[in-house]
Formats: sequence, C-alpha cells, structure tokens
Amino acid sequence: MKTRSVLFNIVLALVLIATVVGCAPAPTQAPAAPTAVPPTEAPAKKVWTYPDMTVGFLQTGSEGGWRAANTASYKETAQQLGINLKFYDPQNDLAKQVAGFQQFIQDPEVDVIILSPLEVTGWEQVLKDAKAAGKPVVIQDRRIDGLEDYYVTFIGADFVEEGRKAGSEMCKLLEGSEKKNVWELVGNVGSAPAIDRGTGFRETAEKCGINVVNSQTANWSISEGKQVTEAWLKESKDVQGIFGQNDEMAFGAIEALKEAGLVPAKDVKLVSVDATSGAFQAMLDGTLNVTVECNPLLAPQVYEAALAALNGESLPKWIPSQESVFYADDPTLKEIAAGRKY
Ligand code: AHR
Repeated sequence: MKTRSVLFNIVLALVLIATVVGCAPAPTQAPAAPTAVPPTEAPAKKVWTYPDMTVGFLQTGSEGGWRAANTASYKETAQQLGINLKFYDPQNDLAKQVAGFQQFIQDPEVDVIILSPLEVTGWEQVLKDAKAAGKPVVIQDRRIDGLEDYYVTFIGADFVEEGRKAGSEMCKLLEGSEKKNVWELVGNVGSAPAIDRGTGFRETAEKCGINVVNSQTANWSISEGKQVTEAWLKESKDVQGIFGQNDEMAFGAIEALKEAGLVPAKDVKLVSVDATSGAFQAMLDGTLNVTVECNPLLAPQVYEAALAALNGESLPKWIPSQESVFYADDPTLKEIAAGRKY
C-alpha cells in the first residue's frame, strides 16, 4: 500500500510540474528595451516685452533745449511702455559717462544699455565689456568711430547732411553779397555733431565762395556763444554770416551782435541747427534766419531697437532720423511752431 501511495505522489508531482511548466508562457523575448524617454523639451525661448526690460540710459548732460527734449522723450516713452528706466546724467563729463557705462554693465538689473556718446572715441573697452556681459548696446543721437561689431545699431541724425543743409542755406542768404565772411560757433570738441556739421557746412558753403574766417567751440551754450562772438567783434565787424552748430550758440551770437550795434538776421545772417522752440521764437522775432532740424524725439525708435536686440533680431547698423529745415520768411511759421513738441 505504501509503495503505491509513494508512486502515486511521484506521478502527481510530475503531472503538476508538467502542468505548471506547460502553462508557463514560452520564455518571452528579452524584455524590450525601455521605450526611449522623449527628449526633454528645450526650454521655450524667452520673448521679451517692454515691461520685462530694464534700460540703462547714459545721457550726455542737460546743455540746452535739444537735450531737454531728448531726455523727456526717454522718460515719457518709458512710462508709456512700462519700461524700467535707469537714467544717468554725467553732466557732459566723458570720464563720468564711461564710469556710468561700467556701472550699468555691473548692475544685474540692467538688461540693455543705451548710450548718447559725448565724444566719438573712448568706447572700445566698455563696449567689449558689455558684449562679454551679454548686454546689448544701442547708440542714440551721436555716432562713434568704428566698433560696429560691439553695438546693435546707431539711431540718430546724419550730422554731415545737417551741415550741408546749413551751408546751402547760408549760400542762399549771402547770394549777391560782395563779401561772404562767416564765423562758426562749434559744439563740444570731439563730438560727432561738432566734427560732422563742420565738415558738411564747408562742403556746400565753400562752393558759393563763403570764407569761414573764424571757428571756435562755444560748447553748445548761450553764454559761451555770446562770449566768443563778443571777442571776435572786438577784433573785426567785417562779418556777413554766423553759423551756430546749435540754436543756443546762435542765441548767444544774437545777443552779442545787438550789443555791438549790429542787426541780427539783417546786417549779419544767422543759420543754426536743432529747430527748438527757442529757434522758432527767434525766427518769429526776426533775429534768426534759418534753423536746420535735428530730431531729439528718438526714444520710441530706440526702445523698439533695444527690444528687438533682446529678442535676438538683427538691425541695420544705422537708422537715420528724418529731418527738415525751417525759415523765418515762411508765412506758416507761426502755425508750424504751435504744432511742435519741443
Ligand atoms: O547731439 C545733438 C546736439 O547735442 C544738439 O545739436 C545740441 O543742441 C546738443 O547739445
């Protein structure tokens, strides 16, 4: 009996084993490699908007009406667009402006730098530092020499063309004059407008026989414009025209002419640049003949370029501003003056 039960158990076990093994699924393929993990999505590229932007703006100073309008353009437009504006006024001191530039490079809040360069040179190190720090630079108002690879774009006037226009207008004013002695009041030495307006003026003025007898800096100011003209008048009154490279210096010359007994815009013709409200008033008063416009309301274009730069867009290296010429003998002058912003 015992033998039978042992045999039975052996057979039962064998049957059980066969059953289990037979149901076991055939050995499967090696487990498939885990499905590849989808690549992690590259982080979406940030798209900048104006309220994201903190701008470091390096102004030149506050030397006159044009500069006041330029500064107002930046502060008002920043408010309208929700831009965080950090504004620095180096009071027309180049060393301070360069130091302010370095500050903005170090400032972690500043995303983009806007520069209104006091002079055409002195920018190589700071522009290279800004590039190394990944901070785009937009130049406004005045150009610099070279270094195009280190700034996004320059938005500002063609100062040579402004000078040409002034020279052509002086030629018209002195047409038929027996003598064509002209004095030139120059902006701050080394600045693009001072260099380029002088170049352009001579290109056209000398074609009609104008002789630039005196040329000296009066640093864009009324007081220096008056002082320089007074000194020249002490030496000679044989002058037929005065070219003020900006309105303020021409206003100083007007004061000096009056005090010397000469009638401005009649005895001595006057041409200036900027077309500020003061120039329109002088033309309406009959003491200034012509003013060539230099547009200070650049902020909207410059902020647009700064935003484009942050969003990786490429821009032309120079975006010239559009400008006109205004005349004392324009019968619509009063209406034009009433409609201007500066
Ligand atoms: O760069 C523009 C010049 O700077 C303006 O003609 C002058 O008024 C200002 O100082």
